[in-house]
Amino acid sequence: MDTLKVLVLALFALASYTKAENKVVCYYDSRSILRAGQGKFDLSFLEPALQFCSHLVYGYAGINPDNNKLVPLNEQFDITQENYRHVTDLKRRFPGLRILLSVGGGNDVSGEGSEKNMIYRTVIESVDHRLAFINSAKDIVKHYGFDGLDLAWEFPETKPKKIHSSFKKFFINIKHKIVGESVVDENAEQHKEQFIALVRELRNSFRHDGLLLSLSVLPNVNSTVYYDPRQISPNVDFVILHAYDFYTPERNPKEADYPAPLYELLDRKPDENGDYQVRYWLQNGCPNNKIVFGIPTYGRAWKMDDDSGLTGVPPLPIDGPAEAGAYTAEPGLLSYPEICTKIATPNEIRAGYLGKLRKVNDPTKRYGTYAFRLPKDDKEGIWVAFEDPDTAGQKASYAKAKGLGGIAIVDVTLDDFRGLCSGDKYPLLRAARYRL
Ligand SMILES: *[C@@H]1O[C@H](CO)[C@@H](O)[C@H](O)[C@H]1NC(C)=O
Repeated sequence: MDTLKVLVLALFALASYTKAENKVVCYYDSRSILRAGQGKFDLSFLEPALQFCSHLVYGYAGINPDNNKLVPLNEQFDITQENYRHVTDLKRRFPGLRILLSVGGGNDVSGEGSEKNMIYRTVIESVDHRLAFINSAKDIVKHYGFDGLDLAWEFPETKPKKIHSSFKKFFINIKHKIVGESVVDENAEQHKEQFIALVRELRNSFRHDGLLLSLSVLPNVNSTVYYDPRQISPNVDFVILHAYDFYTPERNPKEADYPAPLYELLDRKPDENGDYQVRYWLQNGCPNNKIVFGIPTYGRAWKMDDDSGLTGVPPLPIDGPAEAGAYTAEPGLLSYPEICTKIATPNEIRAGYLGKLRKVNDPTKRYGTYAFRLPKDDKEGIWVAFEDPDTAGQKASYAKAKGLGGIAIVDVTLDDFRGLCSGDKYPLLRAARYRL
């Protein structure tokens, strides 16, 4: 072989090596089988996505509050109908794919109000509880052929910003001066330590079998309060930052704003943007290549009313969640295909067609895209902020520029898996993968 040939081959090897370094973690929400019509997602739709994914995360398992063991949340589907098996069998066709089972994810809702998800704190509070959890998790992961476990741990969320009339504001200011802001979790400091112990013990238990362990930092779980990157990162393979849903119709029913800005906006909380989340983990000792940047595939949608104004520029006063989408059936949430099919084309805009939404791009590439329709006659107003292929690509470019370990798509079942928007299947996953 001549030298040139060797050199070219070496370059190719190097190129594919660097590519393999960038993770594309694809989340799969198994509840998607229950969606209506075109939204119903069965495993045959997953295959065209998997060529782009290095990891697949199966969401979600839960925890049994009676014995602290990991359990399937949908026993009928996961176990009886063998969906766990069918998913891990996909490794035969995609040998490089690593598949993790995720626990939590905001889906395991046990209890109400302040009791909500108390089990996720109870599990870590004693050595015995942790052991029960770890052993059960390892059994299930191994039994069904998963490559590891993802901890989408349900710590309490930060309190959303309250919007009050100025009259009410006056009294609340007085109250705050007297009692201070109410505390969500009085034992947060202990929980931070106990979570480090859980991760270390899981790692020790998994090491022998070569199982992977990842952490999903869920939206609005304050990393500053619950996670010590320096202590956690040596014992996990990667940390996925779900850096979105800073604003949602459920948490913020009276004011709409960018749900997933990449950078800080003027007059907003400084830590409610993707870049802050990344910097927190980096500055506190997590290596770049262990951080995976999460990109959502859905939009957050509110109902515009007469007080919302005419410009659509956020933040804007709003009247709660928008009507549910036809497939996703959840007020305030729309999948990417549910949004793209509502956007007016330039011709429709010129013709003054008011039924569809007018899209507003973000030339700064810092905050995100939105689209809206003012309320008129019998049609409800909508304001929806979402990722499109451009913004998904920009977030992937950000991850690359920062030298992060990759990106996560949350989740593939809400991307356009049928190709209804432009004919291409999985336009968000593709765009993000391409820019990595
Ligand atoms: C997160 O916690 C830190 C430290 O307690 C606090 O300063 C910050 O405001 C919190 N962030 C949010 C969004 O509540």
